[in-house]
Amino acid sequence: MTSNAIVKFDNVVKKFGDFVAVERADFEIAQGEFLAIMGSSGCGKTTTLRMLAGLEDPTSGNIYLDGERVNGRATWDRDTPMVWQSLALFPFLTVQENVEFSLKMRGVGKAERSQRARKWLDKMQITEFADRNIAQLSGGQRQRVALARALVTEPKILLLDEPLSALDAHLKVRMQAVLSNLQRDLGITFVYVTHSMSEAFSMADRVVIMSRGQIEQIGTPEEIYRQPHNRFVAEFLGSANIFDAVIEGQSDTGWAVTYEGGQHGDPRDRIAGGQGGRQDHLYRQRRKHASQRTGQRRGRGRSHCRWR
Ligand SMILES: Nc1ncnc2c1ncn2[C@@H]1O[C@H](COP(=O)(O)OP(=O)(O)OP(=O)(O)O)[C@@H](O)[C@H]1O
Ligand SMILES: [Mg+2]
Repeated sequence: MTSNAIVKFDNVVKKFGDFVAVERADFEIAQGEFLAIMGSSGCGKTTTLRMLAGLEDPTSGNIYLDGERVNGRATWDRDTPMVWQSLALFPFLTVQENVEFSLKMRGVGKAERSQRARKWLDKMQITEFADRNIAQLSGGQRQRVALARALVTEPKILLLDEPLSALDAHLKVRMQAVLSNLQRDLGITFVYVTHSMSEAFSMADRVVIMSRGQIEQIGTPEEIYRQPHNRFVAEFLGSANIFDAVIEGQSDTGWAVTYEGGQHGDPRDRIAGGQGGRQDHLYRQRRKHASQRTGQRRGRGRSHCRWR
């Protein structure tokens, strides 16, 4: 485990019966990192998060938290709170009681509970709703209660499973900013599952792309956008300019390939397959993406990738 890693998945496999939901997940998450997990429905994102939270046990492999192996350790004993798409707030408790809940479970006394909950209601700007029932709140206010409830134990890591997907577009953008600022100010690690590429790319330090239980690529948004590891990743990001190219042969400048509507001279050392071989080529004018974290616009220029 590298020195600044807070999480390590070591060859983790999760099966449900014969079905492999997560296949050999092998990666680390750095302390204070914002990691987004993306992939199509059913590819294993929630299962990965649930294993980290202790809600599922890996079938094989090991998970380490802060250097300690946590396989089999109960969820209440590992301080990895999770914020769900459905929020899963307790409807029969007030806002304040919801936020105090996990402190109560840990035997924290009434006065301290109340004081610590108030601090997080303040931070999330929902103090005025402390005595309300959950049913009397808007979607955005509920979202803030869910965050306060998860953060009240001051965990080192927060797991978020599509936390904004139920919100309308306007509120979504506002809550993205709230989450980004929160993560930066608190310096805690976020593991954030989302279907939204713009969400992942604008908020995360690194993005994991999954498909059918496998991790296809992990990298910074820039790396993934510039150099998708394979055709699946390129298509997942919405790249239409992928051509089936044929390697024609060697010329003075290197190997020459042709594809529908064009020709391309290739440096010799990057061609695999030799004459008559086939490759997938991706050409594109890169779009600009403004990072919410740095304000930088990234992803300018042209890229050209090839696989097979
Ligand atoms: N308890 C379970 N028993 C059997 N199969 C399960 C169980 N939980 C998940 N699966 C299966 O494992 C696969 C991965 O599920 P998971 O919930 O991790 O997907 P996901 O990537 O979060 O999808 P979505 O984007 O739709 O939320 C799915 O095919 C799902 O049907
Ligand atoms: Mg899911």
